[in-house]
Amino acid sequence: MSEGIIARYRSYLPITENTPALTLHEGDTPLIRAEQLSATLGIDLYLKVEGFNPTGSFKDRGMVMAMAKAVEEGSQTVICASTGNTSASAAAFAARMGIRCIVVIPDGHVALGKLSQAVVYGAEVIAIEGNFDQALEMVREIAAESEITLVNSVNPYRIEGQKTAAFEVCDQLGEAPDILAIPVGNAGNISAYWKGFCEYKDHGKITRLPRMYGFEAEGAAAIVRGKRIEHPETIATAIRIGNPASWETAVLAARDSGGFIDSVTDDEIVEAYRQLASKEGVFCEPASAASVAGVKKRVQQGEIPSGTQVVCVLTGNGLKDPSTAMDAVQVKPIKVSCDKEAVFQAVRGKGEA
Ligand code: F0G
Repeated sequence: MSEGIIARYRSYLPITENTPALTLHEGDTPLIRAEQLSATLGIDLYLKVEGFNPTGSFKDRGMVMAMAKAVEEGSQTVICASTGNTSASAAAFAARMGIRCIVVIPDGHVALGKLSQAVVYGAEVIAIEGNFDQALEMVREIAAESEITLVNSVNPYRIEGQKTAAFEVCDQLGEAPDILAIPVGNAGNISAYWKGFCEYKDHGKITRLPRMYGFEAEGAAAIVRGKRIEHPETIATAIRIGNPASWETAVLAARDSGGFIDSVTDDEIVEAYRQLASKEGVFCEPASAASVAGVKKRVQQGEIPSGTQVVCVLTGNGLKDPSTAMDAVQVKPIKVSCDKEAVFQAVRGKGEA
């Protein structure tokens, strides 16, 4: 079992003797080679499966740091805006530390799995008639006007914790990959990975840096379009964000690494999402599949040479959002009576039994 990112990467993190030894055994997630997709696309493709984290998303890496530092600094209450995963993670680590957690979410646009996590972990959930960007603006102001600690990724400790995923990718491969592909929502994670790769290179742990490829959902592609989107829309609710807080650092990560930020359509996301599950046995949430959708698109456009080593970050677990899955694939179980012959007939209907 993972010892947790604070213990494992202590020397790279802003830890003091007063920082609580907080962990839910986050990090140390698998890097799985995508055998079928590698063969189909002619590249060497790996999946960093962040859904293995304790609350089912990469947020736990940043949240364990942000929460430990909040408590170290004497905070009694934390707050965040969220499309779901941040709130689930904040709620879990706040519960562990015994402090109050308030989460502000866009009403009707948070996957049920995530909402149920926040509620059961004991957070106070406030649902606004508005979107994530509006929720973030509000909690930033509330935190500035009170003693409450903001634990969105504008909190620098979040980025510190999340950069450990880049360390792990390098530790697992023995070097940085050619390309690191990642979904982009509020743009904190791409910024965190780039920081992690740069620090690892400075420490002599790797000899080169990857190109950073970020992918927004087309209906929420503010960075790609170069302007804030008032009403972002996408099936990938996790990245339904129209004014990314870490916009500039994300652009710099893409530029300085020789990469880019691009967008993918909902159809491309759903196709990649299905393929990851049905061809690789990896069930991620729709937003996560944006990384693979983007790489597929770029390979098909002839922009990623064969043999290139690519790591796609799969940011969250598919179980977070089962209703989107069922709607998107429109595959329903075959209903038959409770009878062996009826079941057998259904089996035969699907090929040789
Ligand atoms: N993938 C998933 C599953 C996410 O939950 C998020 C962000 C992202 C990708 C994008 O990461 O914002 O660092 O660019 N979710 C946030 C939340 C906004 O509230 O849970 P980013």
